[in-house]
Amino acid sequence: MTDVNILGIETSCDETAASVVRDGYQMLSNVIASQIDIHKAFGGVVPEVAARSHVEVMLPVIEEALVDAFPNIDDRWNEVDAIAVTHGPGLSGSLLIGVLTARTLALIKNKPLYGVNHVLGHVYANFISPGGVMKLDDRRQTTDTRDIINSNLRNTNYPCDTSNKWIAPEFPVLALIVSGGHTQLVLFEDHYDYKLLGQTQDDAVGEAFDKVAKVIGLDYPGGPSIQKAAENGGDSRKYDFPKSVLDNPYDFSFSGLKTAVLRKVQLICDKDHTFPSFELADFLGGQQVKDVAASFQRVAIETLVDKTMKAYQEFSPKTVVIAGGVAANSELRRQLKERLPIGIEYASINLCTDNAAMIASLGYYHSLSSEADNPHVLEINTSLSM
Ligand code: KG4
Ligand code: ZN
Repeated sequence: MTDVNILGIETSCDETAASVVRDGYQMLSNVIASQIDIHKAFGGVVPEVAARSHVEVMLPVIEEALVDAFPNIDDRWNEVDAIAVTHGPGLSGSLLIGVLTARTLALIKNKPLYGVNHVLGHVYANFISPGGVMKLDDRRQTTDTRDIINSNLRNTNYPCDTSNKWIAPEFPVLALIVSGGHTQLVLFEDHYDYKLLGQTQDDAVGEAFDKVAKVIGLDYPGGPSIQKAAENGGDSRKYDFPKSVLDNPYDFSFSGLKTAVLRKVQLICDKDHTFPSFELADFLGGQQVKDVAASFQRVAIETLVDKTMKAYQEFSPKTVVIAGGVAANSELRRQLKERLPIGIEYASINLCTDNAAMIASLGYYHSLSSEADNPHVLEINTSLSM
């Protein structure tokens, strides 16, 4: 069996990314041009600015991903077997740049094209062998050793890396998907065979981190800022915030928690609810900021872990994975490890937030099970669901 190299392209929000992944698990390159510094000044992503920035760096980012993956090869495109691109969900202007670029390249270079779902893509960060971008010497050809562990995966070799004893997550896989736009619990019986157990009914958990950070005067993106403030001497028991109770125990709701934090901050600052929320931070002391951050983070993360534990007990999956930007959160990682009776492996932090390696990995499995998309017609879908 020959190796399959997929070029992944990701531009759904504010990261322009390209990556080459071999056989769905060996990362040959991973290039991410982040716009965080551009959007920081506005306290959040400005869609028009994001789209323009994607246009500027898209082609250089792809070129760099190809050079990194195939440094000593003249005809690099000859090494690429297919292109996978995020076609939704996300911001329309941002998605358009990635999809139009991928469609054009698929036509010019005569490569199969696969449009993939960004949220599902996050889960596939867990299917990439750890250890970062593979060094040239470590890239192995497909070997028979992988067939041994092949048993439960249709006609593909089961991804494993005998050099560092890693094997891909075994099914059934319970996935907690937590990003700036999504909060879902999904049970996978196999690739593309999954059931949505529950999802947020209002704000995504990452969105709640970003909004709370704004209220207490911390930088965008809020997740890392809140984690840092909490770790920097915040008392997570200083304030108690309510956890929402919903009919479906696997659904989530974070808007009540977000409002409870706002009300608490208004109280601390001695202001009523008509006072502009973006001016509240000026009235908070440094320790108060840390305590609110730590208390909010504790309640938000406990909510995620409580529901994941309940699903684990009910469905007894072989593996639990976390995915999406909030999966980078150290408190989430700590609490899950502590409470789960089975071991849990985490993807590296730069594969939790938006990247193209996860898109290339998902594209690989997509190519095994589906026909390629028509490069003349592949559309973006800003609200594409799983
Ligand atoms: O997956 P992602 O990069 O983009 C989306 O698809 O939304 O997730 C971004 C979200 C943001 O809301 C950000 O605040 C959050 O992930 N995030 C974190 C952390 N790092 C990023 N939230 C909590 N703790 C973190 N360490
Ligand atoms: Zn994302």
